[in-house]
Amino acid sequence: MTSSIGVAVIGAGMAGKAHAAAFRAASTVYSPVLPEIRLVAIGDVYAPLGQEAAKRFGFERHESDWKAIAAADDIDVVSVVVANSLHREIVEGLLAAGKHVLCEKPLSDTIEDARAMADAAREAEARGTVARIGFSYLRAPGIAFMRQLIDDGRIGDVFHFSAHYWTDYGCRPDVPISWRYQGPAGSGALGDVGSHLSYIAEHLCGGVQEVSGGRFHTSITERPKPIGQVVGHSRGNVSTEMSPVTNDDYATFNAKFERCVGSIEVSRVAAGHPNSLSIEVFGSKGAARWSQTNPSQVEVMLHDELGDLAGYRTVPLGPAHPHYAGGWAMDAPGVGIGQNDLFVHQARAFLEEVAGLPEAESLPRCKSFDDGVHNMEFLAAVAESAAQGGATVQVPANAAGTTNTVGTNTQEVAR
Ligand SMILES: NC(=O)c1ccc[n+]([C@@H]2O[C@H](COP(=O)([O-])OP(=O)(O)OC[C@H]3O[C@@H](n4cnc5c(N)ncnc54)[C@H](O)[C@@H]3O)[C@@H](O)[C@H]2O)c1
Repeated sequence: MTSSIGVAVIGAGMAGKAHAAAFRAASTVYSPVLPEIRLVAIGDVYAPLGQEAAKRFGFERHESDWKAIAAADDIDVVSVVVANSLHREIVEGLLAAGKHVLCEKPLSDTIEDARAMADAAREAEARGTVARIGFSYLRAPGIAFMRQLIDDGRIGDVFHFSAHYWTDYGCRPDVPISWRYQGPAGSGALGDVGSHLSYIAEHLCGGVQEVSGGRFHTSITERPKPIGQVVGHSRGNVSTEMSPVTNDDYATFNAKFERCVGSIEVSRVAAGHPNSLSIEVFGSKGAARWSQTNPSQVEVMLHDELGDLAGYRTVPLGPAHPHYAGGWAMDAPGVGIGQNDLFVHQARAFLEEVAGLPEAESLPRCKSFDDGVHNMEFLAAVAESAAQGGATVQVPANAAGTTNTVGTNTQEVAR
């Protein structure tokens, strides 16, 4: 392994802070002990935010131009955590400068840019540079356990999958316009939170083959311009001037996967649901479900009790389950886990790969940019279905051959 790794985060907004905290904590979980992780720089065009984040998370400095991070000799690894439309320029610049890059999902805001980024990643990887996308929910022990239940045949043949990701960050009309509300159809709720559900669905159900029943709706068609900086889902001072919302507040669709069929619904205007991601699979021998609202447990129903005890049982997650043992300072069952932990494990997996830890001894690798392109092709098919009044649209197979293939990911649930 290399002796030390210098890290930087570009974007000090909502998810950027999660990356900064994750790099700080990554060496405290799992084994072996990582090389020294040097927390070098936070980059944000809004200097006060970058400065505050650098101070808060213990990074040596802040930069307001990402090019200073690309040019810095003391930085090896960079997380790119800015608006999707900015990913391409920054990622390509960093890869050209030889930095290992972890880019947030979705890979970009257009498929053309995403494909160009995947080309750049392949060229960079040929030179020994690692480029990966953060599909953070693949780190969730509950989702990994559901995958294990399916792979082991414990819930039998999978009949169907159902999922929703309801959020309410846009449910009030006074929430200011930001990059999240501007872009083509499908770049709204679908691109933002549907991008998570689509890779989760493929992880559990196998590669997606076709989608149908696509429908988008924009409930709040214009929003006030902000006065000052908008970060994440924040509300604040707004002007009386309005800007149009150009993408979806709500999206729904059906899909046919390798293993089963399913339906997915996403929203950013679901009042009362700040972050309700919920998935359920139904099979010939039972069913299983997991929710981000209670991420430390999986509910399992098996046909082993057909009498008056039949029904769902609650399984508290612990060291007997994938990704759990060693993944927390106190890894006892029932201590509670959360979404921020997934960023820590994701950062750890990325650093293990950069450090040269063999794959067989590592956490499941972060996904490739080709997986990121496939994720966007899946969502583009939903947009096409919606544009055609719900028509059935084929989804191209994943060129990376990972999420699309059932049964090859056993290592993904091993640790
Ligand atoms: N994995 C997850 O659970 C998750 C959660 C939230 C967001 N995300 C992803 O993270 C990315 C960022 O989302 P967010 O909610 O943190 O956004 P945000 O709007 O909260 O923050 C973006 C930050 O980028 C800064 N910025 C803008 N242009 C910049 C530039 N050229 N150079 C450096 N900084 C610049 C802004 O000042 C802002 O602070 C998106 O791709 C989003 O999809 C992922």
